[in-house]
Amino acid sequence: MSRTDECLEVVDRYSARNYAPIPVVIHRGEGIYLYDVEGREYMDMLSAYSAVNQGHQHPHIVDAMVKQVKTLALTSRAFHNDKMGPFLQKLCEMAGFDKALPMNTGAEGVETAIKLARRWAYRDKKVPADQAEIIVCEGNFHGRTTTIVGFSSDDGAKEGFGPITPGFKAVSYGDAAALEAAITPNTAAFLVEPIQGEAGVVLPPDGYLKAIQTICKKHNVLLICDEIQTGLCRTGNMFRFQAEAVTPDVVIVGKALSGGLYPISAVLASDALMSVFDPGSHGSTYGGNPLASAVGMAALDVLVDEKLDERARTMGARFTAALETMASDPRVKEVRGAGLLIAIEFHEPIAKIKVKALAKAGVLAKDTHETTIRFAPPLIISEDQVDAATKIILEVLKAPVKVPSA
Ligand SMILES: Cc1ncc(COP(=O)(O)O)c(C=O)c1O
Repeated sequence: MSRTDECLEVVDRYSARNYAPIPVVIHRGEGIYLYDVEGREYMDMLSAYSAVNQGHQHPHIVDAMVKQVKTLALTSRAFHNDKMGPFLQKLCEMAGFDKALPMNTGAEGVETAIKLARRWAYRDKKVPADQAEIIVCEGNFHGRTTTIVGFSSDDGAKEGFGPITPGFKAVSYGDAAALEAAITPNTAAFLVEPIQGEAGVVLPPDGYLKAIQTICKKHNVLLICDEIQTGLCRTGNMFRFQAEAVTPDVVIVGKALSGGLYPISAVLASDALMSVFDPGSHGSTYGGNPLASAVGMAALDVLVDEKLDERARTMGARFTAALETMASDPRVKEVRGAGLLIAIEFHEPIAKIKVKALAKAGVLAKDTHETTIRFAPPLIISEDQVDAATKIILEVLKAPVKVPSA
């Protein structure tokens, strides 16, 4: 029995089946490369859903982590630590916000933003008690907590997990007029992904972000941008909202805030908005711990020092241009994306088959919704690596396949 088979057998026996990964068992990573337990090399075109923007085991982040882990890892927020302040200062200054609230996972960041919006609605907007509404978008993905899956439009994510949390309603993504029509005096916030990543890299029409900002301001509704996947250089800007020179009221970041080495998320807002939180109103044992803070600072340094926003733009254009050579293939519906968040959509449900074939050929990518494959390599990818990856991708995608019957 191969080492891969042994690993899969143990997982099959002991792990809950809440994922269906392709049967590759990764042991080691470096830069854009991953190596399985048999030593096979793969190019990572997923970056752990955009958490590894800086590349696997980035030496600057690893060094910061090792140094800090030997000194102090966790105090809880019962005491101060000497790393959280400088980390949040760096994050706030980079993003142009007054204050940040550190958490761990993206979903916790989203929950934090929801709590912020509700408290603000009752305290400042004078919405009657327990009547605050938050508008979300159809096709959203904001995480997996019971509240968040309650307003998901993905039945698989919510089925059997009711009763769902009230106070949310969904409007069509990319439709600013639908947002305005849905706003009531009780609307606290509009929660939106600047590009819907999990939905299959769905881009709203140009001008959407500007339009929703104007509508939110007009109706005294908070604009909350979930930049957990799109932020931190992935789409060619430090934040996607910068592509339309928009300033949201609240921004949620996660994933690449650690470069893949630790779960770190944060919510950014003005002083006035953040003041809705007082001691005891919110928190997390691990949020803002010194290890996370040291890792977060180093991860932010890498984004800036290596100009990964610029790199996402240039490498993204090169990657997209290569994929667009398939545009004349009658099976291809669309190639789309921003920076290095790229998708190719087929007319046929062949994404899973193609993703498995790609893995066999040494390229790891992810299918979404049967017809779409997402490519999101680490942003440190070089020109030669883009060329090598897209050469394999084009060969695999062009090969004929038998379409699975419905
Ligand atoms: C836009 C967005 N929000 C929230 C999340 C949830 O983050 P986490 O899995 O860290 O809870 C994700 C994860 O894919 C995401 O893409």
